[in-house]
Amino acid sequence: MHEHDVLVVGAGGAGLRAAIEAQEEGADVALVTKLHPVRSHTGAAEGGINAALHHKDSWDKHAYDTMKGSDYLGDAPAIDAFAQEARHEVIQLEHWGMPFSREEDGTVSQRPFGGLSYPRTTYAGAETGHHLLHTMYEQVVKRGIEVYDEWFVTRLAVTDEDDPSERTCHGIVAIEIATGEVHGFYARDGVILATGGLGEVFDHTTNAIACTGDGPAMAFRAGAPMEDMEFVQFHPTTLPSTGVLISEGVRGEGGILYNADEERFMFERGYANNEGELASRDVVSRAELTEVNEGRGIEDEYVHLDMRHLGADRIIDRLENILHLAEDFEGVDGLDDPMPVKPGQHYQMGGVEVDEYGHSCIDGLYAVGEAACYSLHGANRLGGNALPELMVFGARAGRHAAGGVEEESEIATGPGAKSEDGVVDSPVDLGAVSDPDPVATDGGTLATPEQALEAAVEAERTRIETLLERDGINHADVRDRVQQTMTQNVNVFREEANLKQALRDIREARTLYQEVAVRDPSRTYNTDIIHTIETRNVIDCAEAITVGALAREEFRGAHWRKQYQYRDDENWLKHTLYAWNGGEPELYYKPVILEGEEQTYEPKQRSY
Ligand code: FUM
Repeated sequence: MHEHDVLVVGAGGAGLRAAIEAQEEGADVALVTKLHPVRSHTGAAEGGINAALHHKDSWDKHAYDTMKGSDYLGDAPAIDAFAQEARHEVIQLEHWGMPFSREEDGTVSQRPFGGLSYPRTTYAGAETGHHLLHTMYEQVVKRGIEVYDEWFVTRLAVTDEDDPSERTCHGIVAIEIATGEVHGFYARDGVILATGGLGEVFDHTTNAIACTGDGPAMAFRAGAPMEDMEFVQFHPTTLPSTGVLISEGVRGEGGILYNADEERFMFERGYANNEGELASRDVVSRAELTEVNEGRGIEDEYVHLDMRHLGADRIIDRLENILHLAEDFEGVDGLDDPMPVKPGQHYQMGGVEVDEYGHSCIDGLYAVGEAACYSLHGANRLGGNALPELMVFGARAGRHAAGGVEEESEIATGPGAKSEDGVVDSPVDLGAVSDPDPVATDGGTLATPEQALEAAVEAERTRIETLLERDGINHADVRDRVQQTMTQNVNVFREEANLKQALRDIREARTLYQEVAVRDPSRTYNTDIIHTIETRNVIDCAEAITVGALAREEFRGAHWRKQYQYRDDENWLKHTLYAWNGGEPELYYKPVILEGEEQTYEPKQRSY
C-alpha cells in the first residue's frame, strides 16, 4: 500500500496546480495519473487564459462577464474568487517561465474572446495549454513531487454511512498500467480528483480519448452528487472530420464565419448584432447549426471560418498551430482558403458538486478543473475561462486539502443543500440494474479507513478477474451506443422525444454492460481493461446529462429545449443535483447564489 498526505488524481493543469499548492503548504503529495502529465488533455487547449491584468480592466468586470456568460446560473462566491485570483495565477505562471505571446514593449499580449467586455485573454500562440502544462510540470519535477504516471485510478475508498455528507474518503485504488497490478493508496488528508472532461460521452468532440468522466463517475458512485450536468458546451469551430479544435483565438484575432451563400451570417442574419463571431459559444454554435439546418450550410454539414484577411505574418505569429491543424486534418491551407468548421462537444460545465474550495460533501474528497462543478460556468462557460479556472481552483483545493484554509465555505453541498425534490419523466428505470454483476458493483464503502481501502482494492481485483475470465461482449459495442445516441439526441438542439430516446438507449447500454468482457489476457498495458472500466463511467455521465436535460424545462445557456423557448427564472434559477443514492438515483435542486462581494447579480436578458 502507498501512503501520502494528499493524493491528486490526474496530472493535467488542475492536478499539477493542486499538487504544487498542497506541497507549498507542507503536505507530502503525490500525483496518480492515467496519462503522463504532459500528455494530459490540457495540452490541447489553444486559445488562452482570461485575467483582468490591464489597468483599464478590473476583476469585477471579469466576474460580471462570467456571470452573464453563465446565463445567471453561476454562484457568486465561486465567480468572485475566480476573477480576483486569476490575475495572481497568470502572474505566477509568468514568474514560472510560461512563454506568453508578447507585445513589442515586452508586456504579455491579451486578445478578445467571446463574451468578454475587455480583451483580457492572455495566450502563448495557439498552444497555450501545451505551454501551461510544461511550465507547471517543470515546477512539479523541481519540487520532487512524486508522480505515479500511467496509473489508472478506478475506485475511491469511502466509508459507508447512510448520509453521504457523513462519509470520509480515505484513499484510492489504481491499476498500474504497465503491470496490471492493483494497488491501494491511503490518503491521510485528502483526495483531489482532477480527471478532466468527459468528451467520450459524444462521438464528435474536441476531447482526447482519455476524457471519460472518471472523476465525476467515481465520486457519484461514492455518494457525491453530480451537479448541472445538462450543461454541455459545444464549441462552434471544430474540424468536421475529426472534431479537432480550431481555436476561438481565430475569431478573437478577427476571423469571420461565412455560410454557403458567403453571408457573414452572425450579423447578416441577426444572431448577434453587436458581437458577431465573438458572441458566446452557445450563441455561435446554435447559429451555425441553424444555417446548416435551413440549407445554407456547406455540404449540408459545416460553415467556413476565414482568416485569410489577417495576413500571413499575423497568422504565423499568433495562430501558427491552426495552420498545421487545418492542413494535417482537413487538407486545407488556412492562408489560401477558408477552413470548414462545425460545432463539437468541447467542455462539461457540470461535474462533481463542490464548494468554492473544491471540497465535495464527502470529507476529504475534492474535485477541480473540468471534473468539478463549483458553479463557476453555470449554463455556459466563456472561452478562455477554463485555464484560469484550473489554476485558481487547483490552488484552492490543494491549499484546503493540506490544511491551509481557515475560512468557511459559502457554497453548500450534499443532501443538506437540497431545496426541492426533482421530477423526471423517464421512460425507463434509472441507476443500477437489478442484480449487478461484479464488474458493475461499486464496493469499497466500509466503516474504518483500513476496511474502506481493503474493500475497494478487493472489489477492483474481483472486477478485473471477472472481466478477464468470462466471455462476453466488447466494451466498444456499449460505448458506441452511448456516443451515437448522445450525439443524435442530446446535442445543441434538444427535444423531449429525443431525450427520452437517449434514456432508453443508455438503459440498454447499462444492461449490456453487465455482459462486457476483456479478450486480451495480458496484464501489461491492457488497454482493453482500461477502456472497459472507463465505459462504465461514460454511461453514468451520459445518464446524468440526459436526466438533467429532460428535467430542465427551460432554455438557458447551452441548454436549448424546443418546447421551452425562454429562460424561466421563476422556476429554474436553481442547480440540478443527481445523486447515485446507492443505485437508485435521486434528482433534486438547490438555489443559485447571486449575492457577490461587490454586487448582487441581477439576471438580465442576455444578448451579444
Ligand atoms: O477556442 C479555444 O481556444 C478554446 C478555449 C477554451 O475552451 O477556453
